[in-house]
Amino acid sequence: MCGIFGYVTNKEEALGPILIEAAERLTYRGYDSVGAATLNNGNIDLRKDVGKVDAVAAKYNIAEMRGQRGITQLRWATFGEPSQVNSQPHIDSDGDMVGAHNGNVVNNVELREQFIAEGMTVRSQNDGETCVHAVERYINRGYEFIDAIRLAYGDLEGDYAFVIGRANDDKLYAFKKGSGMVVGLGEGFTCVSSDLPSILPLTREVIRPQDGEIVTLWADKVEVRSVKDGKLIDRKQETVTESMDAVQKGGYPHFMLKEIHEQSQVARELSHVLNGNKEVDVLVEKMKQARHLYFIGCGTSYHAASVGAVYFAQLAGRAVIPVLAPQFVPQYAPTVNHEDVGIFVSQSGETKDVLNALEAAEARGMACFGLANVVGSTLTKATSFSLPLCCGYEISVPATKTFTNQVVTFLYLAYKMAGLDTRELDIIPDLMNKTLEMVAPQVEAIAKDINDWNDMYCLGYGATYPIALEGALKLKEITYAHCEGMLSTEFKHGPLSAVSKGFPIIFVSDGSAVPLIISGINEVKVRGARTIVIGEEDARLRANGDDLIVLPKSDPQIAALLGVLPLQLLSYHMSVMRGFDPDFPRNLSKTLTVD
Ligand code: M6R
Repeated sequence: MCGIFGYVTNKEEALGPILIEAAERLTYRGYDSVGAATLNNGNIDLRKDVGKVDAVAAKYNIAEMRGQRGITQLRWATFGEPSQVNSQPHIDSDGDMVGAHNGNVVNNVELREQFIAEGMTVRSQNDGETCVHAVERYINRGYEFIDAIRLAYGDLEGDYAFVIGRANDDKLYAFKKGSGMVVGLGEGFTCVSSDLPSILPLTREVIRPQDGEIVTLWADKVEVRSVKDGKLIDRKQETVTESMDAVQKGGYPHFMLKEIHEQSQVARELSHVLNGNKEVDVLVEKMKQARHLYFIGCGTSYHAASVGAVYFAQLAGRAVIPVLAPQFVPQYAPTVNHEDVGIFVSQSGETKDVLNALEAAEARGMACFGLANVVGSTLTKATSFSLPLCCGYEISVPATKTFTNQVVTFLYLAYKMAGLDTRELDIIPDLMNKTLEMVAPQVEAIAKDINDWNDMYCLGYGATYPIALEGALKLKEITYAHCEGMLSTEFKHGPLSAVSKGFPIIFVSDGSAVPLIISGINEVKVRGARTIVIGEEDARLRANGDDLIVLPKSDPQIAALLGVLPLQLLSYHMSVMRGFDPDFPRNLSKTLTVD
């Protein structure tokens, strides 16, 4: 997730160290490139590149940069590969304005084409540059700066926060739509950032602008105006009292819980990016023509691939083979050729098992595409192209928001394959929020009840079978208990003998095979199991299960996706109740670059 920081003082001073420190404090959001710009007396000094903050700062001597205003940005690539030219900040055509953003401008491609046609100099593919030209366009047409920003805001679609300054000026301007932004007020300076952690060591006095508000920052004051009519808004100053650690976790006790609650926001950002992405159509065409389709990944990413395979069958009538990456090599690689299509799924884009499978597939000429969170990772570079997951940095080792965005991407692709209206999926983010609200207290109470058990099962059927596998993986990963995920109908073929009084068995229902789930519930209940059912309100499930964790009403495919949220929360609470740190489970690492 990109991060921006802007700083305004009243005279030229050494801003380099302030910008580097602010950038360091944004690094927890994740990034691949770093940039800094200072503005002073008509001049702009811009230095930027791909790499870590300390490396880029050392290479370009950012510490020596001076000015009356400064901007720094950390970039997490979505539009345009990580490269020096795509790094931020960006200048306008004449080099007398400089700006940087975080978030995604989803009509980036269309706007860039318009700017080029209007004679502007567009240097990169990055949507941060698009924000700069969006303002430049209206300056060129003779508008005052604030009015140019107001009009640019109307042109820029998506979720973002943006800061911009002119060389011949003493102010910075910032505005936001859908992304976070905080303004800081200190002694002799003001600043603006994507989040609080980069501001807090400088000042605890802040203003929180809302979407559709433009902030003008001078060294000694700020002004907030409405984009709609340009009128002043009285946004109150507040004093932040929380600790830095609490602020970095967004007020949540752990990153995992924060990331669970970010799922709706990143799903919304993903749908913006998918809607505006021409590569989606190319991929769908390729998949339609393919002889065989493979979705390949490991761990949680494999579970998302497996949910995707069910969606493709149910919605588009297309068979897909979901494969654990290492098994692809002996079982499928010898059979594939250029008529087959593979989507390689990975949060990190660096998982060695996935890269090995990719190498084997490419050696056979298979058409290979990626689905990855880290743009610029080995997977995204090695495939024909890769769709971004748009989740920003996932700090917690257990994957949560990247899983749901993988599943949402597959659901979107299945809709496209089937010729269905993808706008029907726009309800997903709200349903995710609703689910978390509805299930949270009940899940915590159940976690307490079953926390003494070190053996459990999680069962599903159809699209909820891989959801059950994912729930079981989460439970194992952070509670260190044994939890097996299974197809519900398989339970009677052996594991049933393990059931004893109170033995916890979780069932996940998407509403499409309720009688089958009920048979499964009763088989284990009569043998003493405690049955916990996740599904929509249904008198039959309520009458048969011991607990019903109710999901909001939706289609079966969306219900399956929502079913993972209570499982994420359950594993989180049980982990914390056991005294473990769910963010950093023992023996595990976020990225597995070994065989
Ligand atoms: O980065 P990847 O998605 O390729 O990682 C694959 C697995 O290692 C990963 O999903 C792992 O299972 C998760 N940490 C589980 O939460």
